Amino acid sequence: EKGGHKHFMAKEIAEQPTVLADALAHYLNDGAITLPETTPDFAEVDRIVMVACGTAYYACATAKYWFEQLAGIPVEVDVASEYRYRDAPVGPKTLAIFVSQSGETADTLAALRHVATRARIVSVVNVPESSIARESDLALPIFAGAEIGVASTKAFTCQLLVLLLLALKAGRDRGRVTDEAMAGHMASLSSLPGLMAQALAASERIEETSVKLAEAQDILFLGRGSMFPLALEGALKLKEISYIHAEGYASGELKHGPIALIDRSVPVIVFAPRTALFDKTVSNMQEVMARGGKVVLVTDRLGAVEASEGCWQVIEMPTVPELIAPVLYAIPAQLLAYHTAVAKGTDVDQPRNLAKSVTVE
Ligand code: M6R
Repeated sequence: EKGGHKHFMAKEIAEQPTVLADALAHYLNDGAITLPETTPDFAEVDRIVMVACGTAYYACATAKYWFEQLAGIPVEVDVASEYRYRDAPVGPKTLAIFVSQSGETADTLAALRHVATRARIVSVVNVPESSIARESDLALPIFAGAEIGVASTKAFTCQLLVLLLLALKAGRDRGRVTDEAMAGHMASLSSLPGLMAQALAASERIEETSVKLAEAQDILFLGRGSMFPLALEGALKLKEISYIHAEGYASGELKHGPIALIDRSVPVIVFAPRTALFDKTVSNMQEVMARGGKVVLVTDRLGAVEASEGCWQVIEMPTVPELIAPVLYAIPAQLLAYHTAVAKGTDVDQPRNLAKSVTVE
């Protein structure tokens, strides 16, 4: 049942090229995005509120960058346990998006009920029969297949994919994504499964790094732009299954506090594809190295050529279009957590104190 893998988590990480291709096949037709007819017309939406817990929340935090960039829609993202008790104002043109793998998370369901009579509800779920799916105006399945490992992996990348498709539709509805730009984005999307397979090839290299990371007490994750939510997700994944204390920060926040933690014993994992923000992240990385911090740079070929000097470890990813980078860089984030947990000998699929579906508050 684990398909030759040692753990469900390993199987689920490895399945990502296939499940993403599957999800794409469900939502693309003749090179165009085909969402259900009841999908909102984003020309009529003036604000989006996205609500979820844990990893699903980080998928929302990533999608915020996409909705803003592609569609110019203001987006608010909140954790469900906060949103359900807030008096967050909701306007007549507000769209509320709820993201949940299980579709049964108690806080997310309560947050949905909290706004159900005031806003249009779209949910992004892995279980189409779930409570969250049933109580939404529209439920979009992510087609990840059953996810058994408590640490969410393939559901995260499939959530990202569906949210990206929604953001692209939003950009089209609002006349902000041209035909030409759309053709480029479509090409990026179709290249995604193949690129994910290439990213998985870094597994052995990541394992070597993880054996060393397993000795650390604290690990920091840094990223800028859409790599910032991924830094948070990488830290969550590592904490959950390796029990090593980890924190994710926006690279630029480093000097506002967390840099005080840096010394020789603190590895700092930096997600930095060679994009427009690369140089900024590299300068934050140098601040870490100047204080003896051990940098693990996760980047592409060009990034490695330009910024490997002084790094403790460099993990190379295939070069990807910026838009889909957060989906691809999820793989090294997951593999770092996985191999570190294996090196520590923890119960990877059933980490202590955690449940797959949190159905109580
Ligand atoms: O089923 P959901 O997507 O609603 O679950 C939300 C969180 O409980 C979940 O993502 C949790 O954070 C995972 N263990 C993360 O790996």
